[in-house]
Amino acid sequence: MKISVIGCGYLGAVHASSLAKLGHDVVGIDIDQAKVDLLSSGQAPFYEPGLPELLTETLAAGSLRFSTDMSAAQGATVHFIAVGTPQQEGSNAADLRYVEAAFDAIVPYLAPGDVVAGKSTVPVGTAQRLAARIEAVGAHLTWNPEFLREGFAVQDTISPDRLVYGVTPNDDHTVSVLDEVYASVLEQDIPRVVTDFATAELVKVAANAFLATKISFINAMAEVAEVAGADVTQLADAIGYDKRIGRRFLNAGLGFGGGCLPKDIRGFMARASELGAGDALNFLGEVDAINLRRRERMVDLCREVLGGTIKGARIAVLGLAFKPDSDDVRDSPALDVAARLAELGAQVRATDPQAIETSRRIRPNLDYVATVDEAAHDADVILVLTEWREYREIVPNSLDSVVAVRAILDGRNCLDPVQWREAGWTYRALGRP
Ligand SMILES: NC(=O)c1ccc[n+]([C@@H]2O[C@H](COP(=O)([O-])OP(=O)(O)OC[C@H]3O[C@@H](n4cnc5c(N)ncnc54)[C@H](O)[C@@H]3O)[C@@H](O)[C@H]2O)c1
Repeated sequence: MKISVIGCGYLGAVHASSLAKLGHDVVGIDIDQAKVDLLSSGQAPFYEPGLPELLTETLAAGSLRFSTDMSAAQGATVHFIAVGTPQQEGSNAADLRYVEAAFDAIVPYLAPGDVVAGKSTVPVGTAQRLAARIEAVGAHLTWNPEFLREGFAVQDTISPDRLVYGVTPNDDHTVSVLDEVYASVLEQDIPRVVTDFATAELVKVAANAFLATKISFINAMAEVAEVAGADVTQLADAIGYDKRIGRRFLNAGLGFGGGCLPKDIRGFMARASELGAGDALNFLGEVDAINLRRRERMVDLCREVLGGTIKGARIAVLGLAFKPDSDDVRDSPALDVAARLAELGAQVRATDPQAIETSRRIRPNLDYVATVDEAAHDADVILVLTEWREYREIVPNSLDSVVAVRAILDGRNCLDPVQWREAGWTYRALGRP
């Protein structure tokens, strides 16, 4: 099937190349010429495991190409909209200007029977509002939210947990077109939920609200554990054995960030308020606040370990990305903590396996270094703020002669305290004695 994907960021570039891999003829369209040039030459504009190989393979096979020209979408049967929906400046609400612009741009190239499939995360009610413009030219609208996780995006796109189609009642045409797009996904017996626009839009933000709540729940337990002298990691293991609770997403630490969870829970609260159901989501304000407090607590813990003064201290920061296996630093707790410490007068030297360049664009004044040894050189304390595998596997004694003081703060509860303490290090972590 001929498919266009409009917006080739973290979501769109992976979606376009995955659909090409699944056997479709795909054009990815983005307004960013530099991004299109990189993608066209087989290079991923961001770090995502497996994406460069997928681009190379599908570009060489001729099943994928990229363009900045919207007319390249003409002749495609399905047009996926995968542009950004960031948080509006000065408000919790989602900024829909890119979605509006993408719809404005695609309408002239639609033919009767075409399907426009929204993948961007939007406030409930958006699809209903946009449908008339699509239907006026005889095309069909669906909202088909995306649940991929950065770091696992290729796998999640080719083999998702579920597919959700939001369609107008009795729009069998759109359902059968989407079934054809996802034929090889559906062959894997992956559940498919066909529903209305509003439910499809809500499924996405509800899923993110639940995940954010789970993380903030365990971080709230960490706050209590800290004053009670308990260990939140053992608490998480013990409650996680209960299958109704489950252990996943119960890792206490520096909290969530990235381009989705924070802005999605805020956008969800804003939209619910507009609809008169703001009270139902008041708890998400608390989820957000608990999450942000962890960053402050990390700074306090650092001050404590440094004997009361951050100013002038040499601090090594390991990890800047909001999560491992990604270079995404949008709303990254790690980058935020690094920047706060620098603002308090510390000499911060920060490193990350993939996220130095993305961090530099947002925080140009931090001191970035390429390796753990450079970051840790003469350091008074090391902070592990993103749980990259290479940081989890550091052998304590390998840094003994590198640092000035053997002290490590584990912002992700990803190190073994026994191993570090036995090696003669001061080990501190969030939510643990
Ligand atoms: N990143 C994720 O893990 C993820 C997962 C699920 C859902 N989402 C949702 O997907 C959407 C996109 O997120 P992202 O992380 O890929 O954002 P992104 O910022 O990485 O990518 C958005 C892309 O859209 C392009 N764009 C903007 N306006 C355009 C237009 N008018 N025409 C063509 N291209 C245009 C931008 O240049 C950019 O490349 C958001 O709504 C997000 O919430 C993201």
